[in-house]
Amino acid sequence: MIAQSEVSMDSIVVGRSARMRAVFEFLRVIGNSDSTVLITGESGTGKEVTATLIHQSSRRKHRPFVAVSCALFSETLIESELFGHERGAFTGAIKDRPSRFELAEGGTIFLDDIDDVPLSMQVKLLRVLQNRTIERLGGTRTIPINVRIITGSKRDLKQMVAEGKFREDLYYRLNVLPLALPPLRERREDIPILMQHFLERYFRRRGEDVPPVSDVVKEAFMRYTWRGNVRELENACERIAQTCTCGTVRVGCMSARILFRAGAQPSAAAAPMAIPQQTVPISLDDRLREVEAHLIGWALKVSGGNKSRAAELLQIKRSTLGDRINRCGLGKLAAGEDASEGVSSRGSSVPAEESRVPSV
Ligand SMILES: Nc1ncnc2c1ncn2[C@@H]1O[C@H](COP(=O)(O)OP(=O)(O)OP(=O)(O)O)[C@@H](O)[C@H]1O
Ligand SMILES: [Mg+2]
Repeated sequence: MIAQSEVSMDSIVVGRSARMRAVFEFLRVIGNSDSTVLITGESGTGKEVTATLIHQSSRRKHRPFVAVSCALFSETLIESELFGHERGAFTGAIKDRPSRFELAEGGTIFLDDIDDVPLSMQVKLLRVLQNRTIERLGGTRTIPINVRIITGSKRDLKQMVAEGKFREDLYYRLNVLPLALPPLRERREDIPILMQHFLERYFRRRGEDVPPVSDVVKEAFMRYTWRGNVRELENACERIAQTCTCGTVRVGCMSARILFRAGAQPSAAAAPMAIPQQTVPISLDDRLREVEAHLIGWALKVSGGNKSRAAELLQIKRSTLGDRINRCGLGKLAAGEDASEGVSSRGSSVPAEESRVPSV
């Protein structure tokens, strides 16, 4: 199911797993409600895009949607960011600044990372929720606000209440309509549709249609552990769209990290040999090159980048392996650079940056 809002591509929420279908059903039920929503979920699970969708599906959709990440501001800045200030309220306040709540008038405000709001500010937020008014810093006026409030949290606020880190009264005010977004690892069946969605988005931005995607790439996406959830998957697709120039999305177009951390089993390397279900043309040469690159990558990984050992594993001469590494453009994965590419016999090195295997 794709729930699509009318404003921008970026507010489309995609998913077809049972977990996401439950989310869409919840969104449908709360439809035109004005109640406060608390969205919880790990980083990158889609809290902001879901808040945007809630706004777009509500009667407030023609009014502003204002998103604020409370994690971005220091304890001293957050007050003037959220509530605005009057000229002269403090050194540097050279002109009036309206609050984010005023900017969202008639619409929706999304306060992400609410779990990062310091206790001192929580009491002020509670007042806004109770009185539906705000006062700018250094101001004397009480300004009424008509804003729907949605908050996002990556931590369990109830637990934070138990630890004395979050006000219980504020928690109950925020948790009127709770929505928990599942991490990607609990809804892996969404990976193919998300992949397609993001590849379309980023190839279109280049003015191109999405080329066919090889089965090896699809399988690597399915196997990889997406710790950064949908955001990490989106970045991987954007990178493919930026680098793929070969008419087919092949292993060479994707990040080596995703390819090789997705699985080090030789059986996995044999996967590209699967026979396609449909009667569609396949390029035998392309397939063979993919299998070759995949097996060489696997051998380099389990041998810790040691070419002699990798050649032994593949039952070929070391010099032949060298030639094939060059032909497949896997040179960077060979000995010496394995640590920076996440290629390790222990399979545990995590590269600081994503890296790319040149096209095969
Ligand atoms: N189900 C989804 N369908 C389509 N795009 C999604 C989905 N979930 C997340 N995204 C995209 O992934 C990226 C991260 O999503 P978003 O910023 O909403 O996550 P978040 O939970 O607010 O993350 P953080 O905790 O880091 O603030 C965005 O570009 C968003 O458009
Ligand atoms: Mg967010």
